[in-house]
Amino acid sequence: MRRFRRLRVNPAMRKMVRETRLDKSDFIYPIFVAEGENIKTPVPSMPGVYQYSIDRLDGILSEICDSKISGLLIFGIPAHKDECATSAYDDNGITQNAIRYIKSKYPEMLVIADVCLCEYTSHGHCGMICGEKILNDETLPLLAKMAVSLAKAGADIIAPSDMMDGRVAAIRSALDENGLADTPIMSYSAKFASGYYSPFRDAADSAPSFGDRKTYQMDCANGREALREIADDIDEGADMVMVKPALAYLDILRAARDNFDLPLVAYNVSGEYSMVKAAAQNGWIDEKRIVMENLIAVKRAGADIIITYHALDAAKWLEEEQ
Ligand code: PBG
Ligand code: ZN
Repeated sequence: MRRFRRLRVNPAMRKMVRETRLDKSDFIYPIFVAEGENIKTPVPSMPGVYQYSIDRLDGILSEICDSKISGLLIFGIPAHKDECATSAYDDNGITQNAIRYIKSKYPEMLVIADVCLCEYTSHGHCGMICGEKILNDETLPLLAKMAVSLAKAGADIIAPSDMMDGRVAAIRSALDENGLADTPIMSYSAKFASGYYSPFRDAADSAPSFGDRKTYQMDCANGREALREIADDIDEGADMVMVKPALAYLDILRAARDNFDLPLVAYNVSGEYSMVKAAAQNGWIDEKRIVMENLIAVKRAGADIIITYHALDAAKWLEEEQ
């Protein structure tokens, strides 16, 4: 008689036949660095997540280092915002300074820099605007300038999240022209216009002041188009591609895995984190079980790398299991 249960009899047997395993090096942890001093401000919609000023970063940096995860993804929150996102490509901007600080303290730490204008523009959109129109081609040179500035400050990987067409090519050639040919691009290739980003916009102070991001981020209904976006980014020179958000888009991850052989990144975004935290704080779910189940699902769907606010907890739980 066929008995699937034979291989489920005890933990040792189950562990041996497990198809998908999480590893600490699968994870990337996002951090928010704000301009100013003595800042450690909790993000209300994301329990456990804070905005830090550079002078208060040490604690979280040593935690990241000790956790043995792969690295961090940095988002800067400038004091000054304007129409042209000037602070985004200022060599002395908050993100550039934070990267230099992190690399001076932890030269081995992998630092991934998000490239997008929305934290730096007064209107909160990811590109230049004309009236209420978000301009594509006018935005590309600024993204390229920002990428070069962040890479010069020491970023190991450049991660464009703006969803302007042609930005990977523009960034690649700017990096190459500036002696940064060895800096890889992790492209947010299939980034959907999603309700799951709203806690992040509190954390990064980047909510658009008018309209929404639906003219540049993807329609959540479009799976085939996601594959075209990914193929195009690979053509333009992306070294790694991303699907974002993760949990409501596991089918996209699977399709991307089956169609492309580049390292595939999934971004388990802010709203996905907040929902788990809220339910856990109410005692409605077992946080550890749910988080590990979610992360396994993302990996089983095909992701190689997972950007997640749960990274430090998950690394700790994996350590305890050993
Ligand atoms: C910037 C950016 C966003 C996220 C990552 N980079 C927000 C947005 O597009 O509005 C979302 C991350 C998250 O929700 O955790 N463009
Ligand atoms: Zn943006």
